[in-house]
Amino acid sequence: MIRLDRDKIGEAGSQTILAEAAEILRRGGLVIFPTETVYGLGGNATDPAAAKAIYAAKGRPADNPLIIHIEKPEDAGTYTYTNDTYRRIAEAFMPGPITVILRARDNIPVETRAGLPTVAVRCPKDEIARALIGKCGFPIAAPSANLSGSPSPTNARHVADDMNGRVDMIIDGGECEIGLESTIVKIEEDGSLTLLRPGRITPEELRAAVGQVRIASAVTAELRPGEVALSPGMKYRHYAPKSPVILLDGSLAACVDFIRREGKSNAAAIAYSEDVEILRAAFPELTVYAFGEKGDEAAQAHNLFFILREADKRDHSVIYAPLPKRSGMGLALYNRMIRAAAHHIVSL
Ligand code: TXA
Ligand code: MG
Repeated sequence: MIRLDRDKIGEAGSQTILAEAAEILRRGGLVIFPTETVYGLGGNATDPAAAKAIYAAKGRPADNPLIIHIEKPEDAGTYTYTNDTYRRIAEAFMPGPITVILRARDNIPVETRAGLPTVAVRCPKDEIARALIGKCGFPIAAPSANLSGSPSPTNARHVADDMNGRVDMIIDGGECEIGLESTIVKIEEDGSLTLLRPGRITPEELRAAVGQVRIASAVTAELRPGEVALSPGMKYRHYAPKSPVILLDGSLAACVDFIRREGKSNAAAIAYSEDVEILRAAFPELTVYAFGEKGDEAAQAHNLFFILREADKRDHSVIYAPLPKRSGMGLALYNRMIRAAAHHIVSL
């Protein structure tokens, strides 16, 4: 693990580390690097063997395609067929926490895109990520740097918990700013847009930039038996800690009653900051994790995966958490939390 400071990125020491990382990638190796969303497990996106190595290191099924990370928005045209909708999205949100799905050109091997005719493209804003892609001169394929099925890592310690010994280099860039994975949109052949995974960039912001946005049903609901996932990642149990998570939809008083009635030992709760002390006073044995203030979805997003990973180390019998609203960035929290809870929601 090598530490890199964003404000010293131009210095010789940092440049040497980045050059070394780029050389590892060029030779087909794997490098974990920070982005503004979550850490990525990177390999050369134009190298089929690197894609296979990524799937192996993550324990990920090879039918779940990878996102390719580019240095500049205009580089998308080298690897995909772009259009006006892409240009509008790029202008509004790139570099930044958004991924677009476009028809792939032949220079992206089928292994990277898991056999699909399309490929996911993202131009990250994080300076370490961009500097690394720039040094490579090829796009970096990178899923989140967790073992398949675990919450995405948002700091280097959580990366190391899953990935130590499985990759050639880990770049420690501190905590990720956003803490949730990018918003994913599919640009259809007719230029219309479908939201496949909500994130920091909200449906409201997308609509303001491009007009209509369809929201894939799997964003908020379970796939029906036999339903084909628009994004292969939708069909896997995801973001899941080992302990069962139960989402509580009700007032604080109703939640307190519910937790009391359940009477579980070694239980935990994820609570809005305003409610933390009230819960601790009501249940001295309960482990309470502060989620962030009510209404501050950015703070909650920043904390969610961190909390789920910390909670996992304590083998809680159950983790109670509030059911988020579905507006704004709340939709991204809702989407991750219903998966972490395997759709277990209790209306109080
Ligand atoms: O913020 C992020 O997006 C992070 C950082 C590292 O960039 N990456 C990330 O990658 O979250 P990953 O692989 O964990 O999630 C990518 C999702 C998967 O659910 C995958 O199924 C979907 O994107 N995906 C990738 N290519 C696709 C395609 N061609 N069509 C539909 N879905 C696709
Ligand atoms: Mg992932």
